Amino acid sequence: MRVQIAPSILSADFTRLGEQVKEVETAGAEIIHIDVMDGHFVPNISIGIPVVESLRRITNLPLDTHLMISNADQYVERFAKAGANMISVHVEAVTHIHRTLEYIKNLGCKAGVVLNPGTPLSTLDEILPYADFVLLMSVNPGFGGQKFIKSSLTKISKLKALIEAVGKDIHIEVDGGIDMTTAPLVVEAGAEWLVAGSAIFGAVSPAEAVKQMRTIANRPVSV
Ligand code: DX5
Ligand code: ZN
Repeated sequence: MRVQIAPSILSADFTRLGEQVKEVETAGAEIIHIDVMDGHFVPNISIGIPVVESLRRITNLPLDTHLMISNADQYVERFAKAGANMISVHVEAVTHIHRTLEYIKNLGCKAGVVLNPGTPLSTLDEILPYADFVLLMSVNPGFGGQKFIKSSLTKISKLKALIEAVGKDIHIEVDGGIDMTTAPLVVEAGAEWLVAGSAIFGAVSPAEAVKQMRTIANRPVSV
């Protein structure tokens, strides 16, 4: 299993966003994670479609749009047209999740389902086979720089088992409190795509942080 690093631009310096994205790309990051918040589903407001459009012009990396918004169905197509490659929606925010996932895939994007820390894996029962990836939140969404919730590790391993039972290539992404300490733990539990905001863009050198996280994430922790 190959670990992919997905720097979250929420913690980037927005006055130098393009430069910072190029820096982590050159350092080997595989995915750019974009947190979209509406001040309604989560208690914060962040960025949206124009930022996706702008980043599309400067990078070929997959743009992973994490929609923390109440009316996701209404905006999915515009995010896809703006250049998103991956679109994830919260199971807590979308009423007809099966329809939304199909819609995202029909737009040519990878479709992800996101679960908050307090949302049980059983909410995936009927829809797991329709998802390209599952994003497990390891903090309550809304802000960068929060502390990793430890029970997420068990949740990741349980999800891994559920995916194995489905027998499809569904990826596990983890988001929140991922740093040099928690990265190897989530990888050992079964995570493949690691979202990291403050641990990368809050570092003196985001490029070095990407490289360090990759090295650490691939190091076995239980030997
Ligand atoms: C939180 C966002 C995260 C955030 C992670 O709601 O979904 O992507 O940027 O930030 P860190 O890595 O600092 O916990
Ligand atoms: Zn996120």
